[in-house]
Amino acid sequence: MLIFNSIQELQNHLNSIRNQKKTIGFVPTMGALHLGHISLISQAKADCDVVVCSIFVNPTQFNDLSDLDKYPRTLDADCQLLEKVGCDILFSPEVTEIYTPAELELKRLKIEDKSWTMGKSVDFGKLEKVMEGAQRPGHFNGVAQVVSKLFRIVEPNKAYFGQKDFQQLAIIRSMTKQLEMPIQIIACDILREPNGLAMSSRNERLTKEERALASVISKTLFKIKENYLSKSVADIKQEAMQQIQTEPLITIEYIEISDADTLQAIIDLKQSKSAVVCIAVQLGSVRLIDNVVLY
Ligand code: PAJ
Repeated sequence: MLIFNSIQELQNHLNSIRNQKKTIGFVPTMGALHLGHISLISQAKADCDVVVCSIFVNPTQFNDLSDLDKYPRTLDADCQLLEKVGCDILFSPEVTEIYTPAELELKRLKIEDKSWTMGKSVDFGKLEKVMEGAQRPGHFNGVAQVVSKLFRIVEPNKAYFGQKDFQQLAIIRSMTKQLEMPIQIIACDILREPNGLAMSSRNERLTKEERALASVISKTLFKIKENYLSKSVADIKQEAMQQIQTEPLITIEYIEISDADTLQAIIDLKQSKSAVVCIAVQLGSVRLIDNVVLY
C-alpha cells in the first residue's frame, strides 16, 4: 500500500492512474478502523481498479474540542488492516494540509464556514435540521466541508459510505448533487458485532458489560422491522422506548421514524413511500447511533 501525506504527491500518483484509464474508488474515514470500515474497502475493491482510503480526524465536524482530543488515533493498526484487505493507497494528511489557518480560525470562533461550496448555492434545507443535525449544530457543515475537499483532491469515480450514518449519507448525496460532482455515491450495509451492536470506533470506549447490554438497541430496531405493519408510528415509538428503558444505563436521545429520502418524521406509515427508524442513545460516557430501514 502506498501512503501519502501530501496532496500534491497523491494527485501526481492518481493522475497517472487516471491516464491508464483505471477507475478510482474512495473510502473516507477518520481512522480507528474496524471491520465496518473494512467492508467499505472490500466493496470498493470489488467495483474499482484502485482503492484510496483516507484517514483524517476532521476538526471541523466536532462540536466539542475535548471530543476531538478523545478521538482514538491508531494509525499503525489501521495500516495493518488496510494492507490485509488489499487497499492500494492511504491518504493520511496533517490538519494543515487540508485547512488554511483562516478556516481553522473560523472553526475556533464557531463561525460556520461555507467557503467549501466555492460560490455555488448549497442548501441542505430540512435534511440537516433533524436528528444528528439538531443535536450537533455545525456538524454536517464540517462533514460536507471535509468531504467536498477530499472529493476535489481524490476525484474518485465512486465513493463509499456506510448506512450506519444514515443522515450523513443523505447529506453527502445532496452535497455531491448540488456541487455537480461526477462521483457515484455508494451506500454500504451496516456491519454488526455478533450481538447485533453496530460496529463503531466508539464501541472501544464501552465496558464489557455496557457492550453486552447495548445489544438491546439493535434488538429493538429489528423487532420494529418485524412488527411495524400492524402498528401506528406513535405505538411503535412508545414500545421501542419502553423496551430500551428496561436498561437503566441507557438514555434515549431520540428515536425517529422518518422518510428515508427526506429524513422528515413520518406521521402515518401508509402515507410514506419509504421509512427508516433512527436512534441515538447515551450509554455511560458513549453516544451511540443506529438505524434500520423498514422499506
Ligand atoms: P468514520 O466514522 O470513520 O466512518 C467512515 C465510514 O465508515 C462512514 O461512511 C461510516 O458510515 C462507515 N461505517 C462506520 N461504521 C460502520 C459499520 N458498522 N458498518 C458499515 N459502515 C460503517 O463518517 C466519518 O468517519 C466521517 O464523518 C467522514 C465521512 C470520514 C468525514 O470526516
